[in-house]
Amino acid sequence: MCGIVGYTGPREAYPIIIKGLKRLEYRGYDSTGVALQNGGLKVYKKKGKVADLEETLVGKNLHAHAGIGHTRWATHGEPSDLNAHPHRSSSGKLAMIHNGIIENYSQLKKELTNKGYQFSSETDTEVLLNFIEEIRNNNQCDLEEAVRIALKRVTGAYVILLLDEDKPETIIAARKGSPLVIGIGKGEHFLGSDASPMLEYTKEVVYVNDYELAIIKPDELILKNLGNEKITPYVQRLDLELAAIEKGGYEHFMLKEIFEQPQTIYDCLRGRLDATEGTITMSGIQQYAEQLVSANRIIMIACGTSWHAGLAAEYIFEELCRINVEVEYASEFRYRNPVINPGDVIIAISQSGETADTLVAIENAKSKGAIILGVVNVVGSSIARTSHGGAYTHAGPEIGVASTKAFTAQLAVLTMIALKIGYIKGTIPQQRYMHLLNELQEIPEKVAWVLKRSGHIKAVAEKYKDARDFLYLGRGYNFPVALEGALKLKEISYIHAEGYPAAEMKHGPIALVDEELPVVFVATKDSYHEKIVSNMQEIRARKGTVISVITEGDEVSTELSDDVMIVPEADEILAPMLSVVPLQLLAYYIGVAKGCDVDKPRNLAKSVTVE
Ligand code: F6R
Repeated sequence: MCGIVGYTGPREAYPIIIKGLKRLEYRGYDSTGVALQNGGLKVYKKKGKVADLEETLVGKNLHAHAGIGHTRWATHGEPSDLNAHPHRSSSGKLAMIHNGIIENYSQLKKELTNKGYQFSSETDTEVLLNFIEEIRNNNQCDLEEAVRIALKRVTGAYVILLLDEDKPETIIAARKGSPLVIGIGKGEHFLGSDASPMLEYTKEVVYVNDYELAIIKPDELILKNLGNEKITPYVQRLDLELAAIEKGGYEHFMLKEIFEQPQTIYDCLRGRLDATEGTITMSGIQQYAEQLVSANRIIMIACGTSWHAGLAAEYIFEELCRINVEVEYASEFRYRNPVINPGDVIIAISQSGETADTLVAIENAKSKGAIILGVVNVVGSSIARTSHGGAYTHAGPEIGVASTKAFTAQLAVLTMIALKIGYIKGTIPQQRYMHLLNELQEIPEKVAWVLKRSGHIKAVAEKYKDARDFLYLGRGYNFPVALEGALKLKEISYIHAEGYPAAEMKHGPIALVDEELPVVFVATKDSYHEKIVSNMQEIRARKGTVISVITEGDEVSTELSDDVMIVPEADEILAPMLSVVPLQLLAYYIGVAKGCDVDKPRNLAKSVTVE
């Protein structure tokens, strides 16, 4: 799971590549490297972030009109200068970068070692590169043909970009299972793991599909399949502005994205929800409405924060649609032998649309005949393209590694789908349906209300930043929010945090409670409220510290809490979109107070495109 960039054309390649890599650092930031066609192939690479490499290259002659760059999240081999990409082939003539994992690399390595090859890194990438070179030498073929032959032998996932010293204007690229976008300019081409490195140069892009190989020159793009047949590139126009991927005055992307939520939820509802007419229009869902209405079971498949959104949706779908819902970790689902019956519908939830486990899980389910609907943020991503239908979340690019605005947008989309299906099925009384539509429309404003009180949440964060552990508790619709709050805190601040259903606390975690342990209750006014108030009393009785997310005006909970974070009143089905916001801010401010790099937490990457 790495970021890749490439350029060929009349401009200086290096500044384009470095800028592009900085935009892709959300995908990995263990080490960085570039290869430039600068009167011969020049490779520069270093452990650390893009800025670290940039610093060491100041004053060097980096003049080149073609080059490739890589920001790494280590899979094979620890982060080090040697393991950083690009790698060079044994002859030194080829340089390659790779995103993904070559699963059979040890077998290929053995074959090459027997032929006398030596390796300077521990990476699967160097093995694949030398395998390609060996084929080229043996078969006396051109590089394109050698790549094609090599990839037929490879198992695993990859995007590769290759430079050949003897063809200084050409980049060869291929993909299977990891994303690759080619930007088309006038007499120039750009490559990236997503479109962000090319946004200021072109809006015309081609999303390369699995098992496709591209030969890219400044004025020519040839796309072929592995059978060497030409494919006509499908050029799409990007609907994305540069401002959307910049910090816009905020200290961190994470803070910007938390504060964008009134707008992103609004964007997600816009054109779909009409509370006056009482309609929800979602064309990608409408086509499969019949299958959803008659579904025996909906299976939500996702990872991480998106899995939490699925869990919240389980409560919502069961309540509004009376459909049996199961929520699955994609990584488990893909390796089981799950029972998929006719009439089952899969909803895949993913911000990036590139999470490898989710992608493979839905491919497996699709091959068993299931209908796949995607709730995805990144337009044109692999999961979006693999799904039969679905709905985009329209939250805009999420660059902070910790997911925030994607979660609330996922909840908004999933709630709309549940409302639509419940309405068609007749499982939601008309009055409640209209009430929920009106309330949903007000959510952006209510999120803005919560954000106005961020100063108070910052003060709470300061008070508890030195705690060693946190416990997050919630019931019903707020149980997934407790999980999400705990996940945000551990990712951003490295403080150990556990999320639990509040009632389950008595079956174990209560043993942890003492004066040192802050317990965060997600306790907005809902049908479980009295019960969660009892749980607060249980914590207080054991001298635990209680921090609560509560509904405005809830005096009972205020009385029982050491600190409160307030949200406005909302229907319990919609409350998670509000109650999660103070927890995002709490994690953010604690992370900042502890001096953590909140946009790039250690060991994490934004899209997990490896299993
Ligand atoms: C948490 C986080 C991850 C992602 C997970 C799934 O803040 O960002 O847990 O939610 O990796 O990613 P997507 O939604 O892109 O499939």
